[in-house]
Amino acid sequence: MTIDPAVLAAPGFGAHFTDHMVLVDFSEQSGWHGRRVVPYGPLPMDPAATALQYGQEIFEGLKVYRHRDGHLRLFRPDMNARRFAASAARLALPAVPAGLFVESIRQLALVDAAWVSDRPGVSLYVRPFVIGTEALLGVRPARHATYGVIASPAGSYFGDTETGISLWLSQNHSRAGAGGTGAAKCGGNYAAALVAQTEAKAHGCQQVLFTDAATRTWVEEAGSMNIFFVFADGTLVTPPLNGAILAGVTRDSVIELARDRGQRVEERPISITEWKEAAATGELTEVFAAGTAAVITPIAALVTDDTVIETRASGSPSTAQQLRDELTGIQHGTIPDRRGWLLDLGPAPR
Ligand code: COI
Repeated sequence: MTIDPAVLAAPGFGAHFTDHMVLVDFSEQSGWHGRRVVPYGPLPMDPAATALQYGQEIFEGLKVYRHRDGHLRLFRPDMNARRFAASAARLALPAVPAGLFVESIRQLALVDAAWVSDRPGVSLYVRPFVIGTEALLGVRPARHATYGVIASPAGSYFGDTETGISLWLSQNHSRAGAGGTGAAKCGGNYAAALVAQTEAKAHGCQQVLFTDAATRTWVEEAGSMNIFFVFADGTLVTPPLNGAILAGVTRDSVIELARDRGQRVEERPISITEWKEAAATGELTEVFAAGTAAVITPIAALVTDDTVIETRASGSPSTAQQLRDELTGIQHGTIPDRRGWLLDLGPAPR
């Protein structure tokens, strides 16, 4: 397909798809087999497939970057592979081995290399997924599954976010509860968040913020992003991975980058009350979100039923901006990768 240069220059997020996809089948008898690159298009599926009837589906999200040397590189795919396997275990799906995971992404990235822009802030977002494909109305794990990888050129998730986005505090809906699927990356978690996300939009906010389901006291995550707080003494606070929160690759990277810069990072529960009080005293200087799609996005306000808690970074550049510059510099190859976070997929034609 001829690629529209305007699309590659400003792709937005998730609206355009590359020319190919990778598919691999699973059966209990043969394991994973039949890996193939095929034109991007609809998947033939039995209407009784467990993915359709019972939401037996998991996915991942990671990005491919084109560097100045013409090579394509992936950011920390080992972490995504591990999380994908953990999600598979939680959704009773077969795990995709890490080797197959990386190899299938490499294959797709190289065949669709023309879709990988070298513009700052633009990358190729890769979406691996597994669906249960066995036709079955009895409720048990599917014995057949399909692993697929699709890709989509990605720019900014929120558009212009220089001044920050606002979050709507969901009071009626929960994303995850104890023993639920909150730590898994499964479509059901996102489906369950849609009504709260719609509510957020109705209140003029870009995203919803979820607190713990049991007491609605503790900050958890923003549905598609983890959350960080920056205090006046430079300490970063982020909610701990308590089984209800997604273990974000960007979250983990931010923690490491901040610690290497000499900042204290605390993974500890933080309440809405603490947020409100610390913002009022000026002790809380910044709030930001972190995710593969969102990268690092400042949060300017938390909107609740009866109040708006504002935080605007006073320093310039803000902590969020400094971390974002360092993270995206490593990802795009303009800052040395001292930690071995990048995986070279090889040289690629434009
Ligand atoms: C990602 O950042 O990769 C996500 O999964 C968020 C996505 C659901 C938009």
